[in-house]
Amino acid sequence: MNTLTQTLSPLGEGVILGIESSCDETSAAVLRNGELASVVVSSQFFHERFGGVVPELASRAHVRAILPIVREALTQAGTGLDALEAIAVTYAPGLMGSLLVGLNFAKGLSLGLGVPLIGVHHIEAHIFSALLEQDKPQVPFVALVVSGGHTMLLLVKDVGSYQLLGETLDDAAGEAFDKVGKMLGLAYPAGPEIDRLAKSGNPHFVEFPRGMLNEANYNFSFSGIKTSVLHWLKKNPPSSERAEGWGVVQSDIAASFQRAVVDVLVTKTVRAAEEYEIADIVCAGGVSANSELRERFRTECARRGMHFFVPRPLFSTDNAAMIAMLGALKLERGIVNDLSITARPRMALGSGTD
Ligand code: KG4
Ligand code: ZN
Repeated sequence: MNTLTQTLSPLGEGVILGIESSCDETSAAVLRNGELASVVVSSQFFHERFGGVVPELASRAHVRAILPIVREALTQAGTGLDALEAIAVTYAPGLMGSLLVGLNFAKGLSLGLGVPLIGVHHIEAHIFSALLEQDKPQVPFVALVVSGGHTMLLLVKDVGSYQLLGETLDDAAGEAFDKVGKMLGLAYPAGPEIDRLAKSGNPHFVEFPRGMLNEANYNFSFSGIKTSVLHWLKKNPPSSERAEGWGVVQSDIAASFQRAVVDVLVTKTVRAAEEYEIADIVCAGGVSANSELRERFRTECARRGMHFFVPRPLFSTDNAAMIAMLGALKLERGIVNDLSITARPRMALGSGTD
C-alpha cells in the first residue's frame, strides 16, 4: 500500500470535557486547544473481592463519583463550566448501568450549557489514545487494541475509517490475564500483578501454546493457553507446606504465560504492518500497559524501521483523556450528536455515530 501519511492531532481551539464511565473507572478530563489540561481517574477497587466487576455496584459507585470527579477535573484545569465548548462522553460499548451514568450526566451538562454533545465509542477512543503523547502516530497505522473485553487488529485510515484485520475468536487478551491470574490466586484484575511477577520468573519454565501464531490470518485465540495453564496447575498442585516454593511457581507460570501471549500479539501485529506496508504501529487498551509487551514491540519495530506508539500506562487503561481526544477529533470533523443518543452495551466499531 502506498498512501500519504497524515498527522491527526486536533488543531482546533476550545475547551472540551471528556467523561468515561463504561466499566469500573469514573473519569473526567479537560482538553484545551488539543492539549490535555487535566485528567482524573477513580477506580472501583472494591470489585476485587468479587473476582470481577459487579454491574449494579459499579453503576452506584459511578453515581456517587461522577460529580466530584468532573469538578476536580475542571478545578485542576483551572477552568469553569462556562468555558466548555463541547462535552464528549463514552456511550458504547460497556455495562448498561455504568454507561447511563456518564451519558446522562453529559446530556444534562450539554443541555444546561447549550454546547454540543459528542458520543464516543470506547474502543475507538483507545485507538487514538496514543495521540495524547508528544510523539504521535500518523494515519494510516496498524492498531492492536487489547483490553479486558476486546482484542482487535485494525488498519486505521482516519477517524471513523477502520479495516478490521483480525480479532479474538474466544477470550480477550485481558480476560486471559485475569483468568490465569485467578488460577494463580491473584486478585482481579490480575494483569498488573502478572506483569510484576513475570519480571522475576522464568519465561521458559513451561512452553505454553502460541494460539493461531502460524495461521495465515490475523485472528487470535487465548482459550487454549488458559486451559493449558489450568491443566499444568492441576498436575502440579501447590502444597500449602511449601508456600515459598509456590511464590516461585507463580512467577514462573506468570512469566511463561505472558511470554506466550506477547509472542503471538507482537508477531501477528508486525506481520500485518509488513503485509500492508505500514510504518506506524499503535498498541492501546489496558493490556498495552504490560511492560514486556511494550518492550518487545519497541525491539521488533526498531529492527524493521517501524515506529511504535503506546500511551503512558495511565492512558492505556480506561480514562477520560482519550474520550476528550477523540471528541476533539470528531468535533473538528463536525461529528456531534443530539440528546436522542442512547447507551449501547454492544456496538461494533465503525457502525455509525448513532
Ligand atoms: O482497557 P481496560 O482498562 O478496560 C477495558 O476496556 O476492558 O483494560 C483492562 C484490562 C484488564 O483485563 C487488566 O488485567 C488488563 O487490562 N491490564 C493488564 C495490565 N494492566 C491492565 N494486562 C497485562 N499487563 C498489565 N500491566
Ligand atoms: Zn477500555
